[in-house]
Amino acid sequence: MKTFYVTTPIYYPNDVPHIGHAYTTVLADVLARWHKINGYDVFFLTGTDEHGLKLQRSAEKAGKTPKEFVDEMVPIFKKYWGLLDIQYDRFIRTTDPDHEELVGRVFERLHEKGYVYKGKYSGWYCVSCEKFYSEGEYVEKDGQKLCPIHNKPLEWVEEETYFLKLSAMQDEILHLIEEGNIIKPESYAREVANRIKKEGLRDLSVARPKSRVYWGVELPFDKDFVAYVWIDALLNYLTGVGYLRDNSRFEKYWPSAHHIIGKDILWFHSAIWFSVLRMLGVAPPKMLVVHAYIVNRGLKMGKSTGNVVMIDDLLERYGSSDAVRYLLMRLLNLEKDVEFDQNLLDSIYNGELADTYGNLVRRAGVLALRRLNGEVVKAGLDESLGSLATGVISRTQQLMGELKIAESLSLSFDLLREANAYLNRTQPWSSEDPNKPLYNVLEAIRISTNLLYPVMPKTSEIVSRSLGFEIIPPPNLAYGQTQLFKVKDAPILFKKV
Ligand code: MSP
Repeated sequence: MKTFYVTTPIYYPNDVPHIGHAYTTVLADVLARWHKINGYDVFFLTGTDEHGLKLQRSAEKAGKTPKEFVDEMVPIFKKYWGLLDIQYDRFIRTTDPDHEELVGRVFERLHEKGYVYKGKYSGWYCVSCEKFYSEGEYVEKDGQKLCPIHNKPLEWVEEETYFLKLSAMQDEILHLIEEGNIIKPESYAREVANRIKKEGLRDLSVARPKSRVYWGVELPFDKDFVAYVWIDALLNYLTGVGYLRDNSRFEKYWPSAHHIIGKDILWFHSAIWFSVLRMLGVAPPKMLVVHAYIVNRGLKMGKSTGNVVMIDDLLERYGSSDAVRYLLMRLLNLEKDVEFDQNLLDSIYNGELADTYGNLVRRAGVLALRRLNGEVVKAGLDESLGSLATGVISRTQQLMGELKIAESLSLSFDLLREANAYLNRTQPWSSEDPNKPLYNVLEAIRISTNLLYPVMPKTSEIVSRSLGFEIIPPPNLAYGQTQLFKVKDAPILFKKV
């Protein structure tokens, strides 16, 4: 069986997730569901990144131990992913015993292979990013050095550490990034390649003295240090599929690994992660899918910027997880930042979900019940709806394969719009033979509902149950294949805002 291993970043549980995090997580869930319905053996991993200075400080501020603090946050993440119907297979925490053990073993290997050496480090650190910034990267304002992302003062750090010899990997990794066809869209691959060419791949400080950062995985070869949180975090992708623990599982899933990330963490997931994997002798992931930001008033949505929109706000406003999932995927743009615009979302919701889809389902259902007692048998196929539907089925499969989710959604809505126009033209409410027009409308609804399933699983379930059809693998879909619709109900799917 073909496998599909998909991951989200593991989020920092220093705060509750917002719609920026949901953007990535819903995308991963849509890809997982799409592959599942297409017959793949899917493993979907998400979770939380719980170690490091950022979490240590958040816990201190809250007057708790780090473990108490993260233990309270994790259920909140799980609750939100539940509310958004995220069907993950494992929620990994970096404090899980199998993960902590793996981090230790990996560090030991890297050390044994001579990739880790002791040294001294000094630099400007952003705790929110958990990374050092060099000159030219940070912002200087009123004599202060600020993080370019969080706009907060950087901290000067000077200490002993262990370095990872990334410099030894430079040529191979540059080649892999330029020729490996891993990073999507390609513009991001070029960005990383250019950065490597410009500044080189420098050795990375991968340890923190316990005296400063105690909240982390202890290095097996030096108990005074813990692993740098970013290396700890990246390794979750290996723990999740049983690396060094369950070889057959690892070999089954790893070759199909798809990491979904925001562009803020591209460097870590390419230059650094590919290097670590190469040092371990593990193949790079199959694909790194990078998306741009949701911005609000021009700035990346984030807690520190103070412009976040909460998942609750959207759930409340639009009333269902499917509507929120749809809106996020409708906005999705891998290459360009998208502005969060409530008016735009309202009009997409009202126009597409409530009017085009919801209304059509309601009208078709009511008419089938009233005029045909709910039994609509196969009848003459409308040629233009049929050929549109056939095109939509094949184009959707192609676009989903190219990760063009938003574009693929608009195809299903083209079909629904055509079906609305056809319904208005053929007027089955007054025509002598309502069966043929209703059959064609129901076929169009069935095809669109099938194709929309990965984005709106609950709605698909309601519509298919009410109108009497099944959700089947997209390659098996064909216009006119239904012999009989046994309509049971005419649901109202989306209430206008
Ligand atoms: N813990 C690290 C990731 C480690 S993965 C081995 C981290 N966590 S985070 O909580 O800050 O989450 C960052 C991710 O959240 C981004 O890469 C992106 O997927 C998502 N987003 C957070 N804010 C976002 C927007 N405003 N817009 C789009 N995605 C956003 O970094």
